[in-house]
This record gives sequence, structure tokens and C-alpha cells, in this order.
Amino acid sequence: MNFLLNGQNATLASIKLGLLLLTDFEKTKLKPRRFVLLIIILLSIVIHGIGQNLLSNGGFENDFSNWTNLANDGAVATYSIVANAAEGAKAMRLKIDQLGSNGYSIQNFHNKWPAEVGQLYKIEFFAKSQSNAGGLRLVQTTGSYKATSFSLTENWEKYQITYVARGTQEDFKLQFFKKNTYFIDGISITPLNLGEVVIPPSGNSSLKDLAGNCGVNMANLGDRTTETEFESILRNDFNMVGSENSLKMKLVKPQENSAYQFANPDRMVAYAQNQGMKVRGHTIIWHNGMPDWVNNKNWTKQGLLNYLKGYIDDVVGRYKGQIDEWDVANEFVENDGSSLRKGSQSVWMRHIGPEVLDSAFKWVHEADPDAKLYYNDYGAEGMNSKSDFIYNLVKGMQDRGIPIHGVGMQCHFKYDQLLTEEVTLAKDIDKNIKRLGALGLEVAFTEIDIAIPKPVSQEKYQLQAITYGNLLKIALNNTPVFKSFMIWGITDKYTWIRTHSSGNDDDPLLYTADYQKKPAYDQMVAVLKANCIDNVEIKEPFLGTPILIPGTIQAENYDKGGQGVSYSDADPENKGGAYRADGVDVSAGPGVNNHTVGWSASGEWLEYTVRVKTTGAYTFDFFTAAANLVGQVEVLLDGQVLIATTDLPVTNNWGAYESTRSDKVDLTKGEHLIRIKVLSPGYNIDKVVVNEAVITSSDSFKEEKERLTVFPNPSNTGEFRLSSSVEWELYSIDGLLLGRGNGACVKSKSGLTLLHAKGNVFRLITE
Ligand code: XIL
Repeated sequence: MNFLLNGQNATLASIKLGLLLLTDFEKTKLKPRRFVLLIIILLSIVIHGIGQNLLSNGGFENDFSNWTNLANDGAVATYSIVANAAEGAKAMRLKIDQLGSNGYSIQNFHNKWPAEVGQLYKIEFFAKSQSNAGGLRLVQTTGSYKATSFSLTENWEKYQITYVARGTQEDFKLQFFKKNTYFIDGISITPLNLGEVVIPPSGNSSLKDLAGNCGVNMANLGDRTTETEFESILRNDFNMVGSENSLKMKLVKPQENSAYQFANPDRMVAYAQNQGMKVRGHTIIWHNGMPDWVNNKNWTKQGLLNYLKGYIDDVVGRYKGQIDEWDVANEFVENDGSSLRKGSQSVWMRHIGPEVLDSAFKWVHEADPDAKLYYNDYGAEGMNSKSDFIYNLVKGMQDRGIPIHGVGMQCHFKYDQLLTEEVTLAKDIDKNIKRLGALGLEVAFTEIDIAIPKPVSQEKYQLQAITYGNLLKIALNNTPVFKSFMIWGITDKYTWIRTHSSGNDDDPLLYTADYQKKPAYDQMVAVLKANCIDNVEIKEPFLGTPILIPGTIQAENYDKGGQGVSYSDADPENKGGAYRADGVDVSAGPGVNNHTVGWSASGEWLEYTVRVKTTGAYTFDFFTAAANLVGQVEVLLDGQVLIATTDLPVTNNWGAYESTRSDKVDLTKGEHLIRIKVLSPGYNIDKVVVNEAVITSSDSFKEEKERLTVFPNPSNTGEFRLSSSVEWELYSIDGLLLGRGNGACVKSKSGLTLLHAKGNVFRLITE
């Protein structure tokens, strides 16, 4: 594919000519005024790229030549050439007095323009409407029908689309579907030069870690975790999962009398919990994905409302506290943004009407008060009638006090749609996110895939990569309103696009069907690195998501850095580089990722953000190697000493790692900063494994005495884990026996409790 534009040469030539004229002014025979005029013409060639425009008479400077203007099917419209121009002296004016019976009754066609198949083009034009929100559609019809809608304002604005030509004689027409007076000017079609597209290889990266630095979730479908390759990518690159189909009503409640089908969503939610991942729930009310019995039943309004309430209680209630974002309502708005979907399409609208939205959001919120509730739709990512309708819809819900927290934009896009940051779609998605953010709502991209019309090729993969990157940039530019970037699948092996497009489009995801990274993946990494890494202080490798405790702190995944540990190393991955006297070095080693951290100076430290799952006692196992010196480590928690000086063994070999267990220490649920500090140097550290400690009867707690002295005023509640051999009794403060047992987990519900285990008195110390 040819990304270079021929017009660039013309531009260069005119610049050269201009320079020549400037330097040789004395020698020219031109009068100064004529000379200035010439320079202006040349500059306008440079600025506007005149000569490159493949569309003749896109400026309406004299007349409508090359255009055919239509107003039929009952439409009444007047066309004129007016002096109110965005560019040059004249523009086209179109006054619509009456719309016709179909959406394309008013349109202007241009003669076909010459295109090169496979060439990338940019179409730009200026437009405005007499009152805000005029709408026009730009239609290209060769190969397949392709229409892009634009929402206009009262001011001249420049609009842009990018696309790859599929035929040699491309149609061009504008359709007007809203009553208004329009002004159009400066339509140009030029080959688009993206310059040299360089997508750096991503190496060993993690999308979620990088995006985590920006506070954005990387989400994907979590229903194929049994496929090894799928699962390992999911775990490495994503921190949030959702189901493609299994939480749709059709699958959850296939028959009126069938039991709920929870096996698949249960597995996904359990997987997410084990991995410390977040979950998106998709979806409760939709016109599609409904079981036939619901669609066909002869409901009364109240009957269907009752059924919905029960369904929400059962389904949302089952996953209470485990789903972070719920797409409560999906695709309720007509494509043209004129209204909610008709009753002929949607069982909810047929029997209940618009109030079903308020009810569903209210009931989902009651069933799971912590979940963020989303309205989700497609074709409403940018600024258009549909997104305007959705904006008003969600605003109305807010005004009525309905719990709604976000808007999901599906983002089923094409590979040539977002090739520059100036395309109208890119600017409009940004605008739309910002206006929703101004309402106090969150935004997520919920079903991203970026399809390629067949045949697919490496060049198309490159363009797809740019589109992915540009979409991601919009997301990153809109934090914290923007929350989750959910891609509708991992591998081109499994994508709904193939069937949905009747086989015309394919390969919309980040990995090929045989799990090879595509340029789109590399470009996402490049965009994340450029936007989500603090460039001043390089802290790679950096795990942006807090490390889940119990869990493993891989030594190389330190985050906050600080004196002595931030580094800049000649080796970009800082792997296997020479040891530095003044800092941390990451080298090849036996660790999970084959990284270890070597330290050389006392006082250095590494800091990790951790998230403790439950309050309780924990042990730390340090996996270290030292050829000849006994090293010492100290651990601080939120700035306080947690584990005092601990000796680390001489293992006699830099490749031989041994573990050293710390004393039991208390950690409270939630996020903390853990600092691992070198007190005495001479060791490499691979990882620190933090596990829940088992309390035995021989345990004595350092602070036990102190705690008992404050008795009888203890105020904390919590839980202990005891090994099975320990018999225990739990008493209230006034000596009432609350329970007794062997081992397992002892919980205290109210503040004033004591635990007696084999003669020892433990106060429940946790918060
Ligand atoms: C699609 C799934 O990907 C397909 O497997 C299924 O056959 C049909 O539904 N908008 C949505 C998604 O909200 O739920 C749809 O998912 C794609 C369009």
C-alpha cells in the first residue's frame, strides 16, 4: 500500500520555487505587487494543498458544476451559491423547507472522482447549519455502502474522515436528514500520507500494567479461560473480564421453567476473584439476546415488571459485590437517534415502555449497591443524533434520581476510521466523553473490535494498529472519567465479526488466530508507554496494579522507586545489564519472569503497592541468593517497621535461591505501601511470597500484653485463622461463651470479644 502522497512533491516544489524567487527577487522581472501575489498563491498551495484535491469544484466558487442536487420524495429545498464562505469567496447554501418521505430525499451527488484501489484518502470539508445540530451524512459507495454522519454547529468547522478506497471510480454524495439551513464549503479529497509508520515491537509487556499507571482498566472476554493460550494472555494483559454471551438473559434463563444457568458466569467470576481481576456484567435488558419465551409471552405490564425484578434480584444478587460494572441496559435507542426502540423490536418497550429503564437501574442498584451501572450502546461514540439522544436520556435519569453511573460505548469500528487524531470521529468521541463526564458520569469502551474488510494484509494490520492506538489515546486523554477499555476478544480465532459481517470483514482483534501478536498489540503498548509512564523517573519494570496479598511480590516489579532505586540503564529492559554501584539492577535469574533484583548498597529499598484481601496475620518468605555474605532485610509498612532486621542466608552460589520466613505480622485489608529495605548488602532477591499465617497455640503476640492492659476497652473485630489442632473458645467481654471449636477460621462480630486457645488469651486484634 502506498502511504505517500503525490501532492507532497507538488508542495515541496512550490516551497522550493518560493525560496528561489525570494533569493532571486532582484533578478526577476516581476513587479513587487505581482511578486507578493505569486508568493501568496504559492503559500496557499503549501497551506491548502491546492492541486492535490481529487474532487473538482469542492469549493463552489462559481456554480454547481460537477454536482447534481436533489430534493425528491416530497422534499422541498433550495440550493444557492453564497458569499458566506469558509474558504475562498463562495460556498454552497442549502435551505430545507420540508423533508421528504425518506432519509435521503435531499442530497447532492458529485461526479465520480478517480481513486486508486487500496490507497488511503482523507476527505475534509467545512460545514455549518443555521441552528445547532444540523446533521449531514457523507456517503461513499463503491465496494460497499459507507456512510458517516456529522453533527453540525452554527460555526464553520472542519470535518474529516479517513478511508481506504475500494474502487477506482468512487461515488461521493452528501445527504441531509434534518430540517435546517446548511452551508458547505471546501470539500477536498486527498491521498493521506501517514509518514513512515513505525510500530516498535512491544517485547515483554503487559497492557494492564501500563494502563494501570493511567488508572485505566484493560478488559477482555473472560469466558475462554480453559484455553491455555487465551488464558495466559488474559492474565498477562488484562485486569478485568466480562462475558460475551453467558450473562445474557437468553443463556441465563433459556426456558420459563428452566433453572438459571449460572455455570459459565460462575466460573468467570471465580476466575476473576482468583486473579484479582475486576468484572463487567453484560447485560440485563436488551432487545436482542432474549429467550424466545420472554419475547413471545403474552405479558401484562406488571407481569413483565415482576419477572424483571425477580430476575435482577436473582442474577445481580448472586454476584453482589463481585461485579464492578454492569451494563444494565443495552441498545435501547434507534439508530437515527429519533426515539427509544419501538415495541415491535423490544419486548421491554412493547409491554412496559420507557419506564423499564428507570426500574431496571433502580433494582440493579438495590441488588448490588457497589456496582457501577452503565447504559451501553453502539454508533453513539461520537457526536450525532443517537449520542445526543443518549445524553438526554441518561441526564433525565439522573434528574429523576435514578442510579446511573456510566455510559458504555461499544466501539465496533473499521480499521480505516481513526487514522489521524484530527478525524471528526476522534474529536467527537473526545467531546462526547467530556460532556458525559461533565454530568458526573463514567465512560467505558465496552466491545472494541476494529474490523478489516477481506482480504486482510500486513498493510491493513498496520492501519488497524493506528486505529487501535488512536482510540486508546482518546481513552487515556479522558481519565479519570474514562474507566475501562474492553476489547471484544483476544484472538481472531474467536470473533463475532466474521458471522456478523457475513464473512466480509475479519481479523478485528490484537492477536492472530494462532495467537501471534499483531501490530495493533504493539501499537497499544507504544501508546501506553508514551502516555502512562512517568518519563522523568523511569521505574520499569513496573506493576501498575497493586499486588494482591496473599500473593507474590516479584522483586523486579517495584513501583514507587525513590532514592537509590530509580534507574536509567543503557539496556532498555534493564535485563542482564552490568551491576551498578548506585542502584538496583535487574538481571536474568530463576524467577517466574526470569528476573531477579541485585542490590549493591545498604539503605536502598524497593517499594510495592499491595492490596491485602483480608485482614489477618501473614508471613513473608524472602527468596534470596548470596555467594558469600549474610545479607539483612527490613520491611516497612506504610512507613512503619513491619518486619525488623532479618538475616538472609549465604547460599554459596548466585544461582541458588533459598527462602527465609519472617515472623507473623498483621496486615489490614486494603491498599498499602510495602518497602523492602537492604540493611546489609550482598544478596540477590527473586521474590517475596506473602501468605496467610496459621496461628498455633504456641503463638504469642508481641503486643499481646499491651493490648490486654487496655482491656476492658478493646474495640476491634476481625478474624483469626487457627491450625486444626488448636481448640478455641470465644467469649464476650462479660464472660459469655460465644462459641468453641477446632482450628479453622474464628470470626468475631462485635467489638468486645476474647479468644482463648489452649490457655492463651488472644484478643481479636484486627480491624
Ligand atoms: C454478540 C456476541 O459477540 C455474539 O457471540 C453473539 O452471537 C451475538 O452478540 N452488541 C452487544 C453484544 O452488546 O452483546 C453483541 O455480542 C455484539 C453487539
